[in-house]
Formats: sequence, C-alpha cells, structure tokens
Amino acid sequence: MNTRYSTIIAPSILSADFSAMGNAVRTIEESGADWVHVDIMDGMFVPNISFGSKMVNDLRPLTKLPLDVHLMIEKPERYIAEFAGAGADFITFHLEAAVHAHRLLDSIKKLGKKAGISIVPSTPAEALSEILELVDIILLMTVNPGFGGQKFIPQCIPKIEKLHRYRIERNLKYDIAVDGGINAETALTVREAGANVLITGSSFFSARDPAEEVLKYKGTYIV
Ligand code: DX5
Ligand code: ZN
Repeated sequence: MNTRYSTIIAPSILSADFSAMGNAVRTIEESGADWVHVDIMDGMFVPNISFGSKMVNDLRPLTKLPLDVHLMIEKPERYIAEFAGAGADFITFHLEAAVHAHRLLDSIKKLGKKAGISIVPSTPAEALSEILELVDIILLMTVNPGFGGQKFIPQCIPKIEKLHRYRIERNLKYDIAVDGGINAETALTVREAGANVLITGSSFFSARDPAEEVLKYKGTYIV
C-alpha cells in the first residue's frame, strides 16, 4: 500500500451538467474532494471538444480548491499562458502532443503553476524517464482520452507501479494521478499500485451521495 501520500480526489467537471457548472463545483466542494479537474479537448488530439479557458476564468471565483487543468490539445504551448492567466493552478499537457516537453514544463513553472505531464495508455512509462526531475504531476490515462464513462484499462497498472518505484528510488515528490474509469473498486487497485491522485468523472457525478463516494475512493468509508 502507498503510505507516503494521502489520497487526493479530483472530480472532473466533464461529467457534470454543462448548464450548471457552478452547482458542479459546489457539489465537489461539499463532497470533501480536493481538486477540481478541468478537461480541455480540442477535437484534434482527441475526438471530442469540451470547453476553453473561459470555463476556468468563470469557475475561478467560485472556489478556493485548486483548478487542475488537463490539456488534451495539440501544440499545448499555444495555450499555457492563457490558462495560467485564467486561474489554473496546475497545468498538465500530453507528452504525445508536445515535441519540446522539457521547455514547456519549464515555462509552466515560470508562470508560477504546477507542471504536469500526461501519457496515454499506449505510451510507456520509460518515455518520461528523462524529465521525471522536472514534473510536479504525472497523469496516467487509464482509458483512451476523449470521453468520460469508459472502462478502466487494467494493463496500465504496471505503469503506475513503475512510476511509483522511480519516485521512491530517485527520491522525487511528483504526484501520480490516474484518469479514466476510476470508481470505488478501481480506486483501491490504483492506490495499491502507488497512485495518489484519483481523477473521477462519471462515477462521482452519478453517485447517490458524492461525499460517501469520496470516502470510498480514499478507502476511509466505514459502513
Ligand atoms: C477523459 C478525461 C477524464 C474523464 C474521466 O479523457 O481526461 O478526466 O473525465 O471520466 P471517467 O471517470 O468517467 O472515466
Ligand atoms: Zn482528465
């Protein structure tokens, strides 16, 4: 079990009702979750289109929780400053979408934000090897990005274990976030593998009691 880190829960507003995003953020706050995960999709890097930086700008005054922006867009370097200016706290982009990942991580940090990098299920953990020292967050996609409500891909578990091992061996402090198909059951599996940030969309927003759901993800729910 991963004992060095307390588990962070980051509900994704992609699964919320787009006509009531303010309510969605309130639900997240009241549930006891920790971050608000904001999925940005451009219809190019992924097939779906979600929303842009105005969403971050409009949600910013509604919450003190960190806004965790996950860019699923091509050439993410074009939009880093815009999302930083809109009030994002953490900015994560995809390794597969950026040639100069090293430079981009650096520029996110220079804007005073936490810098994250994400990889899709088919990208090996080793692809991150040379930049581990530079990242604040590693976001492992556990479905193919683009849509909420997909099934967790269990083949991703060894990658979580590997990046957790690297974190210990190299004495690094990055968060390991998992995104896609996280529910009360898969939460246990990914926590045991070493993930300490659990991003959750459909199972959180369809839960009867989101606060209970958060306790289940954290493994602290008592019947
Ligand atoms: C998928 C997004 C996820 C998504 C997760 O491309 O990055 O954040 O909202 O949704 P669920 O939990 O339903 O898989
Ligand atoms: Zn996401």
